[in-house]
Amino acid sequence: MSDKVIITETGMRDGLQNQPTQVSTEMKLKIADALVAAGVTHLEATSFVHPKAVPQMADASDVLAGLKSFQDLNVSVLVPNMKGYEKAKAHGIKDVGIVCSTTDAFNGRNLNMTTEQVKVVCTDILKASKEDGINVRVYVSGAFACPYDGKMPVTTAQEMATFFLEAGADSISIADTIGAGNPRQVQQILKPLIENAGADKFNLHLHDTRGQALAMAWAGLELGIRSFDSSVGGLGGCPFAPGASGNVATEDLVYMCEEAGLSTGIDWVKLRDAVKVAEEATGKALGGRIINWMISQEEREAAKKATCV
Ligand code: COA
Ligand code: ZN
Repeated sequence: MSDKVIITETGMRDGLQNQPTQVSTEMKLKIADALVAAGVTHLEATSFVHPKAVPQMADASDVLAGLKSFQDLNVSVLVPNMKGYEKAKAHGIKDVGIVCSTTDAFNGRNLNMTTEQVKVVCTDILKASKEDGINVRVYVSGAFACPYDGKMPVTTAQEMATFFLEAGADSISIADTIGAGNPRQVQQILKPLIENAGADKFNLHLHDTRGQALAMAWAGLELGIRSFDSSVGGLGGCPFAPGASGNVATEDLVYMCEEAGLSTGIDWVKLRDAVKVAEEATGKALGGRIINWMISQEEREAAKKATCV
């Protein structure tokens, strides 16, 4: 099994999408700069959604233009429908995420469609993507629990993942959109799926609302999953999923992987600069546990020095 873990930094999309104050394109690009400096290679940069639904993403074209200078950066975007997909294609994007939630209630609030309608839209996008040479990841959102209908049976996410794999999805992200899952559910949902399709077809998108995200990521790693989403400083939430807090913090996920002998290519210490920029951009105190631990260590060292002289 590979020791290489691919982390898609999603702070600029999932992290910023529900911030109450508009973050400028310039600040978004500064976050990207700091992330790339820390070794991030996969960036979900924005989404092509209706600007009234998510005003923070209204500058998608400008963000993508600003990222052009990063030659080796793998830039992906999220789209809710064919219109968004066409825009992504027109911008030369080669990796697109599409989303289908597990319930009608969630799909209704998020996309103004029923689950069946979302499946049709996603299937059409998957068909088009084959001709266009675009990779599509389908997010099974609310896989563990729905913000409106509560805990989901494991079969719901399994059936949806199987449906989209058969429809041609390049990969499936099992998303704990409101951070209500647990490691056992990761095993229960993903073990049979992996037995059928292989671990490299799956990604985990985990929010840390109830502090379970790292344990769930580890459950995924043990099953062979090597693709995860995370956001710098744990930034995030979903405007259509009440109670959802941020994604698992990139620095914590990187730290766990690296300490466990897996390679992410990202330097968690350098992510501190990205956390600082994200704090400046949002006016919020951020940072996963490891950054806060580092700061407390520094403060302790400084206090020691102050008392020694
Ligand atoms: N980007 C920008 N505008 C879009 C669009 C897109 N992807 N899809 C549709 N529109 C426009 C249409 O052109 C139409 O414009 P008009 O009023 O000027 O004619 C208008 O939106 C309504 O189109 P319709 O297809 O009826 O959309 P809707 O009102 O049912 O909204 C979505 C559906 C999907 C566009 C909207 O709910 C949305 O953007 N949701 C995103 C949610 C999100 O980002 N969630 C978090 C990530 S999972
Ligand atoms: Zn999310």
